Amino acid sequence: MAAADWKENVAPDEAARFDALAAQLRAIQQEKAKAHGSKSRALHAKPHVGLSASLKVRDGLPDWARVGIFSQPGTFEAWVRLSNGGTGHLSDKAPDVRGFALKVTGVPGTKLIPGMEDAPTQDFLGILTDTMPFKTPDAFVAVVRAANGPKLLALPRILAALGSSAFSILPQLQKGMAEKVDSLVERTFFSVLPIRWGAAAVKYSFEPVAPPKPNAPLADGPSRFADDVRARVSHAPLTWTLRVQPFVSERETPIEDPTVRWTAPWTAVADVVIPVQDTRSPEGQALATQVEAFSFDPWHAPVEFRPLGAMMRARSNAYRDSTIERGAAKEPGPTR
Ligand code: HEM
Repeated sequence: MAAADWKENVAPDEAARFDALAAQLRAIQQEKAKAHGSKSRALHAKPHVGLSASLKVRDGLPDWARVGIFSQPGTFEAWVRLSNGGTGHLSDKAPDVRGFALKVTGVPGTKLIPGMEDAPTQDFLGILTDTMPFKTPDAFVAVVRAANGPKLLALPRILAALGSSAFSILPQLQKGMAEKVDSLVERTFFSVLPIRWGAAAVKYSFEPVAPPKPNAPLADGPSRFADDVRARVSHAPLTWTLRVQPFVSERETPIEDPTVRWTAPWTAVADVVIPVQDTRSPEGQALATQVEAFSFDPWHAPVEFRPLGAMMRARSNAYRDSTIERGAAKEPGPTR
């Protein structure tokens, strides 16, 4: 059963610290732009695909889960972007984080980001692991920065920034990224971090439903994830179920410690359905360009779905800086 007595710890100095962390990521983004001649995201720079989708909210949700667009069954227009997590455009064979970003439009209610209260969208972002090895955003950004500096200095820089905690963080990080992933279509993506869900707090995940097979054998090339998605969605829809897992107690489901796996049961609340589409057609390519310009951000949400915890609050600064730097598109309204 979902509990409502969750709490966040807000440090008095965090606003300035999170500004500084966002500026550090933005500096890497600017360096990469110089090298590539075009501006990408500060993280998750390499897209695999940008697809049109629908979010179909299920009937019969428990009372605590009936919040916002999940209050009653319905269908919303949406888009999905699949990505690699790094700051550059490496081959898919390189170890990396893999991302799933969903933008839903036609969403009523007051939104969180100041100045964007009337935006029509709500976003959900996930990666392939259900925890992260970092307890603080400072540690996360320190590792991103070290990984982007000179190779020889990476380890000393991580040790200088993290001290002895580096010895627990690095092996877990390596394990999370090095796992062999054959197809993103067959994988579950996790929010890792919690959000409010009305009076409750939840983590969410996207679980694939009966993934179709590719229509031809695939080469193990540098864009294998895009090739794989294209070869499946060209002839069959792709579906992921959006599930939520409620906060039950600070001990079992801590809000502020992303290294702890929540074990509360999942409740299916909606299905993300990606209809058959030809990603190589002129329309498919125009769609990919449109989705690439979007800003997917956990803070694009109504107030009753506010992201929770220090790591989430640090993301607020970082996503805003990254989207301003690359001149992301404004939030899209419904088109159908
Ligand atoms: C562990 C939880 C996290 C998850 C699940 C996550 C997931 C994602 C995903 C899926 C994207 C790609 C969005 C897209 O396709 O446009 C993304 C982008 C990004 N992430 Fe995260 N992320 C996490 C933590 C963080 C943290 C802690 C930071 C920094 C403090 C961060 C900074 C960024 C930035 C700057 C972008 C690029 C934003 C843009 O320009 O659109 N992320 N993240």
